[in-house]
Amino acid sequence: MSAAPGLFVTFEGGEGAGKSTQIQLLAQALRARGMTVLTTREPGGSKGAEAVRHVLLSGAAEPYGIRMEAILFAAARSDHVEQVIRPALAAGSVVLCDRFMDSSRVYQGITGNLEQPFIEALERVAVNGVMPDCTVIFDLPAAIGLERARKRAAGPNEQPDRFEKEELQTHEKRREAFLDIAEREPLRCRVVDATRTQETIAADVLAIIEPLLPITAARRPHPEHVS
Ligand SMILES: Nc1ncnc2c1ncn2[C@@H]1O[C@H](COP(=O)(O)OP(=O)(O)O)[C@@H](O)[C@H]1O
Ligand SMILES: [Mg+2]
Repeated sequence: MSAAPGLFVTFEGGEGAGKSTQIQLLAQALRARGMTVLTTREPGGSKGAEAVRHVLLSGAAEPYGIRMEAILFAAARSDHVEQVIRPALAAGSVVLCDRFMDSSRVYQGITGNLEQPFIEALERVAVNGVMPDCTVIFDLPAAIGLERARKRAAGPNEQPDRFEKEELQTHEKRREAFLDIAEREPLRCRVVDATRTQETIAADVLAIIEPLLPITAARRPHPEHVS
Protein backbone atom coordinates (compact mmCIF):
# COMPACT_ATOMS: atom_id res chain seq x y z
CA MET A 1 0.00 0.00 0.00
CA SER A 2 1.17 3.53 -0.71
CA ALA A 3 0.77 4.65 2.95
CA ALA A 4 0.41 8.24 1.68
CA PRO A 5 -2.47 10.56 2.62
CA GLY A 6 -4.03 10.11 -0.84
CA LEU A 7 -5.48 7.06 -2.57
CA PHE A 8 -3.82 5.31 -5.50
CA VAL A 9 -6.14 3.39 -7.81
CA THR A 10 -5.00 1.65 -10.99
CA PHE A 11 -7.20 0.52 -13.88
CA GLU A 12 -6.13 -2.63 -15.67
CA GLY A 13 -7.40 -5.01 -18.33
CA GLY A 14 -7.16 -5.66 -22.03
CA GLU A 15 -7.61 -3.46 -25.07
CA GLY A 16 -11.09 -1.92 -25.30
CA ALA A 17 -12.14 -3.14 -21.84
CA GLY A 18 -13.35 0.34 -20.91
CA LYS A 19 -10.48 1.54 -18.69
CA SER A 20 -10.25 5.03 -20.17
CA THR A 21 -14.04 5.40 -20.19
CA GLN A 22 -14.40 4.33 -16.56
CA ILE A 23 -11.49 6.39 -15.28
CA GLN A 24 -13.21 9.53 -16.56
CA LEU A 25 -16.57 8.52 -15.06
CA LEU A 26 -15.00 7.80 -11.66
CA ALA A 27 -13.02 11.04 -11.72
CA GLN A 28 -16.25 12.96 -12.40
CA ALA A 29 -18.08 11.20 -9.59
CA LEU A 30 -15.28 11.85 -7.09
CA ARG A 31 -14.84 15.48 -8.11
CA ALA A 32 -18.59 15.95 -7.62
CA ARG A 33 -17.94 14.82 -4.04
CA GLY A 34 -15.38 17.59 -3.66
CA MET A 35 -12.31 15.41 -3.94
CA THR A 36 -9.06 16.34 -5.61
CA VAL A 37 -8.54 13.81 -8.38
CA LEU A 38 -5.62 13.31 -10.72
CA THR A 39 -6.15 11.10 -13.76
CA THR A 40 -3.09 9.81 -15.50
CA ARG A 41 -1.98 6.97 -17.79
CA GLU A 42 0.83 4.63 -18.71
CA PRO A 43 3.03 4.48 -20.56
CA GLY A 44 3.31 8.22 -20.01
CA GLY A 45 1.81 10.55 -17.44
CA SER A 46 4.93 12.66 -16.94
CA LYS A 47 7.10 14.64 -19.33
CA GLY A 48 9.87 12.04 -19.43
CA ALA A 49 7.47 9.13 -19.65
CA GLU A 50 5.44 10.69 -22.47
CA ALA A 51 8.68 10.98 -24.46
CA VAL A 52 9.18 7.22 -24.02
CA ARG A 53 5.48 6.44 -24.72
CA HIS A 54 5.80 7.22 -28.39
CA VAL A 55 8.84 4.97 -28.75
CA LEU A 56 6.94 2.08 -27.14
CA LEU A 57 3.51 2.39 -28.79
CA SER A 58 4.82 3.15 -32.29
CA GLY A 59 6.73 -0.13 -32.19
CA ALA A 60 10.08 1.65 -32.60
CA ALA A 61 11.60 -0.36 -29.73
CA GLU A 62 10.12 -3.70 -30.82
CA PRO A 63 13.05 -4.75 -33.06
CA TYR A 64 15.42 -4.43 -30.09
CA GLY A 65 13.60 -7.11 -28.14
CA ILE A 66 11.30 -7.57 -25.19
CA ARG A 67 13.96 -6.74 -22.58
CA MET A 68 14.58 -3.38 -24.16
CA GLU A 69 10.84 -2.71 -24.19
CA ALA A 70 10.41 -3.84 -20.59
CA ILE A 71 13.23 -1.59 -19.39
CA LEU A 72 11.78 1.36 -21.30
CA PHE A 73 8.39 0.74 -19.67
CA ALA A 74 10.15 0.68 -16.30
CA ALA A 75 12.07 3.88 -17.06
CA ALA A 76 8.83 5.61 -18.00
CA ARG A 77 7.11 4.25 -14.87
CA SER A 78 9.89 5.43 -12.60
CA ASP A 79 9.69 8.97 -13.96
CA HIS A 80 5.89 8.94 -13.72
CA VAL A 81 5.95 7.68 -10.11
CA GLU A 82 8.56 10.14 -8.87
CA GLN A 83 7.47 13.23 -10.82
CA VAL A 84 3.70 12.86 -10.68
CA ILE A 85 2.16 10.04 -8.64
CA ARG A 86 4.16 10.20 -5.40
CA PRO A 87 3.82 14.01 -5.03
CA ALA A 88 0.07 13.86 -5.75
CA LEU A 89 -0.48 11.13 -3.15
CA ALA A 90 1.61 13.04 -0.63
CA ALA A 91 -0.66 16.04 -1.20
CA GLY A 92 -3.72 13.88 -0.45
CA SER A 93 -5.09 13.52 -3.97
CA VAL A 94 -6.91 10.54 -5.37
CA VAL A 95 -4.74 9.31 -8.23
CA LEU A 96 -6.46 7.25 -10.94
CA CYS A 97 -3.98 5.63 -13.30
CA ASP A 98 -4.88 3.99 -16.62
CA ARG A 99 -2.58 0.91 -16.62
CA PHE A 100 0.32 0.44 -14.23
CA MET A 101 2.64 -2.35 -13.09
CA ASP A 102 0.17 -5.19 -13.72
CA SER A 103 0.23 -4.37 -17.43
CA SER A 104 4.00 -4.94 -17.38
CA ARG A 105 3.57 -8.21 -15.52
CA VAL A 106 1.05 -9.34 -18.13
CA TYR A 107 2.29 -7.86 -21.44
CA GLN A 108 6.05 -8.19 -20.95
CA GLY A 109 6.06 -10.94 -18.33
CA ILE A 110 3.38 -13.40 -19.43
CA THR A 111 2.83 -12.79 -23.15
CA GLY A 112 6.35 -11.39 -23.64
CA ASN A 113 7.82 -14.49 -22.00
CA LEU A 114 10.24 -12.48 -19.89
CA GLU A 115 11.42 -14.37 -16.88
CA GLN A 116 9.70 -13.56 -13.60
CA PRO A 117 12.75 -12.31 -11.65
CA PHE A 118 13.58 -9.82 -14.40
CA ILE A 119 10.04 -8.40 -14.34
CA GLU A 120 9.98 -8.35 -10.54
CA ALA A 121 13.29 -6.48 -10.35
CA LEU A 122 12.09 -3.85 -12.83
CA GLU A 123 8.82 -3.50 -10.96
CA ARG A 124 10.62 -2.97 -7.68
CA VAL A 125 12.84 -0.16 -8.95
CA ALA A 126 10.12 1.52 -11.04
CA VAL A 127 7.36 1.46 -8.42
CA ASN A 128 9.81 2.19 -5.60
CA GLY A 129 7.26 1.59 -2.85
CA VAL A 130 4.32 3.35 -4.49
CA MET A 131 1.99 0.36 -4.73
CA PRO A 132 -1.64 0.80 -5.78
CA ASP A 133 -4.08 0.79 -2.86
CA CYS A 134 -6.62 -0.73 -5.20
CA THR A 135 -6.47 -2.17 -8.72
CA VAL A 136 -9.69 -2.49 -10.69
CA ILE A 137 -9.42 -5.15 -13.39
CA PHE A 138 -11.87 -4.81 -16.26
CA ASP A 139 -12.65 -8.27 -17.50
CA LEU A 140 -14.18 -9.10 -20.85
CA PRO A 141 -13.65 -11.58 -23.68
CA ALA A 142 -10.74 -10.39 -25.81
CA ALA A 143 -12.83 -10.56 -29.01
CA ILE A 144 -15.32 -8.03 -27.63
CA GLY A 145 -12.55 -5.74 -26.39
CA LEU A 146 -10.73 -5.81 -29.71
CA GLU A 147 -13.96 -5.11 -31.58
CA ARG A 148 -14.58 -2.08 -29.35
CA ALA A 149 -10.98 -0.93 -29.80
CA ARG A 150 -11.28 -1.35 -33.58
CA LYS A 151 -14.43 0.77 -33.65
CA ARG A 152 -12.67 3.38 -31.55
CA ALA A 153 -9.74 3.27 -33.98
CA ALA A 154 -12.04 3.90 -36.94
CA GLY A 155 -11.44 7.65 -36.48
CA PRO A 156 -9.44 9.49 -39.18
CA ASN A 157 -6.08 9.56 -37.38
CA GLU A 158 -6.36 6.43 -35.26
CA GLN A 159 -4.34 3.33 -36.12
CA PRO A 160 -4.09 0.21 -33.94
CA ASP A 161 -0.95 0.49 -31.79
CA ARG A 162 1.88 -2.02 -31.40
CA PHE A 163 -0.07 -4.05 -28.82
CA GLU A 164 -3.57 -3.82 -30.29
CA LYS A 165 -2.26 -5.48 -33.46
CA GLU A 166 -1.41 -8.78 -31.79
CA GLU A 167 -3.42 -11.98 -32.17
CA LEU A 168 -6.66 -12.78 -30.42
CA GLN A 169 -5.05 -15.74 -28.67
CA THR A 170 -2.44 -13.44 -27.14
CA HIS A 171 -5.15 -11.11 -25.89
CA GLU A 172 -7.03 -14.04 -24.32
CA LYS A 173 -3.83 -15.12 -22.57
CA ARG A 174 -3.54 -11.62 -21.12
CA ARG A 175 -7.11 -11.75 -19.88
CA GLU A 176 -6.28 -14.95 -17.98
CA ALA A 177 -3.09 -13.40 -16.65
CA PHE A 178 -4.97 -10.39 -15.22
CA LEU A 179 -7.44 -12.78 -13.56
CA ASP A 180 -4.52 -14.76 -12.08
CA ILE A 181 -3.09 -11.59 -10.53
CA ALA A 182 -6.51 -10.81 -9.03
CA GLU A 183 -6.65 -14.28 -7.55
CA ARG A 184 -3.18 -14.03 -6.06
CA GLU A 185 -3.70 -10.53 -4.64
CA PRO A 186 -7.34 -10.37 -3.57
CA LEU A 187 -6.79 -7.54 -1.10
CA ARG A 188 -5.46 -5.20 -3.74
CA CYS A 189 -7.41 -6.31 -6.81
CA ARG A 190 -11.09 -6.23 -7.72
CA VAL A 191 -12.44 -7.75 -10.91
CA VAL A 192 -15.32 -6.01 -12.68
CA ASP A 193 -17.44 -7.64 -15.40
CA ALA A 194 -16.83 -5.23 -18.28
CA THR A 195 -19.43 -6.72 -20.67
CA ARG A 196 -22.20 -4.65 -19.04
CA THR A 197 -23.29 -1.08 -19.75
CA GLN A 198 -20.98 1.82 -18.93
CA GLU A 199 -23.41 3.08 -16.27
CA THR A 200 -23.66 -0.26 -14.48
CA ILE A 201 -19.89 -0.67 -14.48
CA ALA A 202 -19.39 2.90 -13.24
CA ALA A 203 -21.72 2.26 -10.29
CA ASP A 204 -19.74 -0.87 -9.42
CA VAL A 205 -16.42 0.94 -9.60
CA LEU A 206 -17.69 3.76 -7.39
CA ALA A 207 -18.96 1.22 -4.85
CA ILE A 208 -15.49 -0.36 -4.75
CA ILE A 209 -13.63 2.93 -4.34
CA GLU A 210 -15.94 4.87 -2.03
CA PRO A 211 -15.06 2.98 1.17
CA LEU A 212 -11.35 3.52 0.46
CA LEU A 213 -11.45 7.28 0.04
CA PRO A 214 -8.87 9.18 2.06
CA ILE A 215 -10.16 10.34 5.41
CA THR A 216 -8.99 13.91 4.86
CA ALA A 217 -11.04 14.20 1.68
CA ALA A 218 -13.97 12.10 2.88
CA ARG A 219 -14.34 14.29 5.98
CA ARG A 220 -15.26 17.25 3.83
CA PRO A 221 -19.00 17.76 4.17
CA HIS A 222 -21.04 15.98 1.52
CA PRO A 223 -23.76 18.17 0.03
CA GLU A 224 -26.45 15.83 1.44
CA HIS A 225 -24.82 15.87 4.87
CA VAL A 226 -24.90 19.64 5.23
CA SER A 227 -27.85 20.62 7.36
N1 LIG B 1 -19.45 -0.85 -21.19
C1 LIG B 1 -19.26 -0.58 -22.48
N2 LIG B 1 -20.06 -1.10 -23.41
C2 LIG B 1 -19.86 -0.85 -24.75
N3 LIG B 1 -18.88 -0.06 -25.24
C3 LIG B 1 -18.05 0.49 -24.35
C4 LIG B 1 -18.17 0.27 -22.93
N4 LIG B 1 -17.19 0.96 -22.29
C5 LIG B 1 -16.47 1.57 -23.26
N5 LIG B 1 -16.98 1.31 -24.49
C6 LIG B 1 -16.47 1.78 -25.80
O1 LIG B 1 -15.46 0.86 -26.19
C7 LIG B 1 -14.33 1.55 -26.71
C8 LIG B 1 -13.11 1.22 -25.85
O2 LIG B 1 -13.27 1.80 -24.54
P1 LIG B 1 -12.02 2.43 -23.77
O3 LIG B 1 -12.55 3.05 -22.53
O4 LIG B 1 -11.25 3.30 -24.70
O5 LIG B 1 -11.21 1.09 -23.44
P2 LIG B 1 -9.71 0.91 -22.95
O6 LIG B 1 -9.24 2.23 -22.45
O7 LIG B 1 -9.79 -0.14 -21.90
O8 LIG B 1 -8.93 0.42 -24.15
C9 LIG B 1 -14.69 3.02 -26.72
O9 LIG B 1 -15.13 3.38 -28.00
C10 LIG B 1 -15.80 3.13 -25.69
O10 LIG B 1 -16.69 4.18 -25.99
MG1 LIG C 1 -7.59 3.35 -22.98
